[in-house]
Amino acid sequence: MPLVSMRQLLDEAAKGGYGVGAFNVNNMEQIQAIMEAARETESPVIIQASRGARSYSQDRFLYHLMLAATELYPEIPTVLHLDHGNSPETCQSAIDLGFTSVMMDGSLLADGKTPSSYEYNVDVTRKVVAAAHAKGVTVEAEIGCLGGIEDGHGAGGSGMEHLTDPTQAEQFVKDTNCDALAIAIGTSHGAYKFTRKPDGEVLKMDVLIDIHKRIPTTHLVMHGSSSVPKDLQDIINQYGGSLKPTWGVPVEEIQIGIKNGVRKINVDTDNRLAMTGAIRKVLMETPEKFDPRDYMKPAREAMKKVVAQRMVQFGQAGKAKSITPIPLPEIAKLYA
Ligand code: G3H
Ligand code: 13P
Ligand code: ZN
Repeated sequence: MPLVSMRQLLDEAAKGGYGVGAFNVNNMEQIQAIMEAARETESPVIIQASRGARSYSQDRFLYHLMLAATELYPEIPTVLHLDHGNSPETCQSAIDLGFTSVMMDGSLLADGKTPSSYEYNVDVTRKVVAAAHAKGVTVEAEIGCLGGIEDGHGAGGSGMEHLTDPTQAEQFVKDTNCDALAIAIGTSHGAYKFTRKPDGEVLKMDVLIDIHKRIPTTHLVMHGSSSVPKDLQDIINQYGGSLKPTWGVPVEEIQIGIKNGVRKINVDTDNRLAMTGAIRKVLMETPEKFDPRDYMKPAREAMKKVVAQRMVQFGQAGKAKSITPIPLPEIAKLYA
């Protein structure tokens, strides 16, 4: 089946009360890992590419790899989503390329670091909604800013500095008509999110619940949702890496989010850790090897394992069959 609308996938998830993982990719092996995990668990899937990923893989390579995924895994409803679009122009270029969903992250200025004004955010988001919906393409927006800048997106700090204001979130959805809304509840991108295991106090679940009550039909998105598992950190450190002790977002907290309107859960770091650990292990244990397949295969397998586990934990496993894709031109008519 062709690439599908993210709005359709998230509407289904809302009906079924489950969440859908959105996994970042930069290359063929990562796409293969996700598609294999989706097939094994019979899951619909969101594959997302950042601006960095698009430039690393040269856009058209990435797009054609995604077309190959839809040909080889026809039973899997698959979304291609732009992660953290920084301007209407970046979003437009993704729409033109064939992405079925885009994020306009107007919570930050185009530099991806500086928190913007409410008015700026509304202005850029509305522009993208108009262009995207005309083509049946989904729009995710963001209000409030995540912490951390280690991967180039975020306002810096611990993630507590720019939490989403629920009243503003409600107004923002009225002002922009976005399909999905990323909110800041204390998470940040990258491996170094928390210095101790976070509890209900550290992650602002009360803010999330308040937002969901105000905008129950808007799909909420949790960015920075890697759990940064200890066993994946340990493999890296055991084989010559040097990660400092750190904690991510516990899966149980994400599951509470899913019960309260979270439909899209962004995970990148966990897969980076899994692949890097597997590669380090091969290179350290068998230093005589030099065929990239010798370490890329275990790396792909390690990522597949993490993704499959998350698909089960988020509740999307088994749901691929229940989705009959609506062509984007039909979705465009529904928006109109
Ligand atoms: O939020 C960011 C994702 O982890 C992608 O990061 O810009 O390094 O590709 P990236
Ligand atoms: P992590 O760094 O927690 O994996 O978050 C990824 C993300 O939010 C991508 O947009
Ligand atoms: Zn993000």
